[in-house]
Formats: sequence, C-alpha cells, structure tokens
Amino acid sequence: MASTSDSVNLPPALAVHNIQIVYGGAIEAVRDVSLEVRQGQIVALLGSNGAGKSSVLKAISGVLEAEDGEIEKGSIQLFGEGVERAPAPTIVRRGMVQVPEGRRLFASLTVDENLVVGAHLQDARSLAQGREYVYGLFPRLADRRKQIAGYLSGGEQQMVAIGRALMSRPRVLALDEPSLGLAPLIVSEIFDTIGRLRESTNLTILLVEQNASRALAICDYAYIMENGRVVLDGTSEQLRRNQDVREFYLGMSTQAQRTSMKDVKHYKRRKRWRSCPPPKAASMLLLSRRSWTCAVSPNALAVCARSMTSACR
Ligand SMILES: Nc1ncnc2c1ncn2[C@@H]1O[C@H](COP(=O)(O)OP(=O)(O)OP(=O)(O)O)[C@@H](O)[C@H]1O
Ligand SMILES: [Mg+2]
Repeated sequence: MASTSDSVNLPPALAVHNIQIVYGGAIEAVRDVSLEVRQGQIVALLGSNGAGKSSVLKAISGVLEAEDGEIEKGSIQLFGEGVERAPAPTIVRRGMVQVPEGRRLFASLTVDENLVVGAHLQDARSLAQGREYVYGLFPRLADRRKQIAGYLSGGEQQMVAIGRALMSRPRVLALDEPSLGLAPLIVSEIFDTIGRLRESTNLTILLVEQNASRALAICDYAYIMENGRVVLDGTSEQLRRNQDVREFYLGMSTQAQRTSMKDVKHYKRRKRWRSCPPPKAASMLLLSRRSWTCAVSPNALAVCARSMTSACR
C-alpha cells in the first residue's frame, strides 16, 4: 500500500464528502457518497452499470454542468482545497485530470495533435518533454504519431487518451473504465501501465472500473457503489476476501452453497437497480462531448478549431 507515514501526514490528494448529484434538477444519481484518495495511492471505484461511478468522476472534474448536472450537497477537496464549485480548467490547473469513459479522442486529429491538445496549459519545453515521456511509456504510439487517431485500435486509442491526460502533468489521474471494450491482453497492458505510472512517478490514481478483479489486483483501496451510494469499502485485500464481492463482482459463485430463500432475497436486495430511465443515447453522447470540451478548456478549442464539428466523433 502506498500510504507511507509521510503521505498520512499530508492532506489527501482527493477527498469527497457526502456528495449528492442531481441531473436536470430532478434525477438523483448519487447520494451521500464519500471517498478519499491519499497521495500516491491507487483507489478504485467499482460498481455495475448505472451505479453512479462516472457521475462522481464528473463531479470531481467539474464537468457536471455540461450535462445539466449539479452537486446539490457535499464538498470535494483537492490537496486540501475546496473545488466543488470550481470550473473544469481550474481543476486541471490544480493537478487533477480525467481520462473520460469511451476515450473521447479528437478522432480526426493525429495521435500527436491529440497529445498537443492535452498540453495546452504547458510551455513549449514541457510539451516536448511530455511527448517524449508519453512516447516512452507507449512506444507503439511513437510509431503511429502521424496517424489519424480515429483509425487506431481500441487499445491504442486508450493509450492516446491516457497520454493526452498525462501531457498536462497531473498530480491526480482519474481513469473512467480504461478496460472498456478491450481484449484481455490489451487490458493487461493498460493495467500494467497504470501500475508502472504510480511506481515511477508516484502519481495518485482514481480508477473507475467494472472489471473488479483487474482493479482489485492493482489498487490499494476500493469503494463499491450500487444505486448511487457506496455500499462497501476496504483495502483491496479485504474486498478480495469478502464473500459478496467474490460472488457478485469477481464471479466466484457460491451458488451451490446458497440454497435458502434468504440467500436469494439477499442477492436481489443487493442487485436492485435504479428505476428512472436513462436519457436517450443520442443526447447522452452529445452531453458527454460537451463535458469533454469543457474539461479541455477554451484554449483547446482553438487548437482543434480546424475540425471542431467532427473532432469528437
Ligand atoms: N446526463 C445525464 N442526465 C440524466 N441522468 C444521467 C446523466 N448521466 C447519468 N445519468 C444517470 O445517473 C445514473 C448514474 O449514471 P453513471 O453514468 O454515473 O453510472 P456509471 O456507474 O458510470 O455506469 P456505467 O458503468 O454504465 O458507466 C444513471 O441512472 C444514469 O442514467
Ligand atoms: Mg460510467
């Protein structure tokens, strides 16, 4: 575990206290969620579809407004400073960057241009250093630097998305489902890289995942969300040993031993999902694009002006 005695004395890199997130002034997506990520730790936020993981990440990154969402209650601190009302560019400047779910690359720009977008707050020297660092971390991107990002494989696109986030030299990196839609070998590669990033740079990482087994293998601590709330948290070891986690999240079924109705009811209670329907897929996509645009800040829009209409495809 990365929390040394030094890091215990420092303020947490990220502290979320009892936040409630509401969309459209009516749909409550997250209620009373608290979590903490100490400096240098990898903390995972786990849970199934619709649990509220991405909403928490969007709140932390300051991009909820673009989706007509807001933090109704609670507070968020980044290195001890309140950021729950801060706009996305301020949060990026304070060291927290998100790799959004689904990558959200500027698909008609090249790999290199995508990295440049991520470095819009940096000077020329830092930009050059950042490029060198990212191409060292992902050598296969170096070979493809002039290729159009939209034509890369899913794994390569995920590498570009992580690389783009690293270009702004974050102190806290929030990854939203980096394994989504990737083949197992590529997932291993991405997770190895996440582990190496923490080892080599002491980067603090908040990892949102549905792939609980992969996430618990590399994180120090994890929170499990269901129906917009945290229902369980603990060290990765505690959670790997927990019977419910083993059964419902790690796929280690003990069904043979669970024969009474009480067990079945217990299962149903734990697997109850929200009843409110999600917005239409098309508007969700549009909103997500807007949130990424907002996260990148207005300067990035200038960089991408030449292909703004198709950039986020
Ligand atoms: N822009 C939005 N407008 C209205 N409701 C939303 C919006 N975004 C998310 N929600 C709702 O909030 C709840 C939590 O969604 P969220 O995307 O945070 O879950 P998640 O845990 O990230 O799920 P997944 O694993 O599928 O990505 C869901 O019920 C969802 O329909
Ligand atoms: Mg999500």
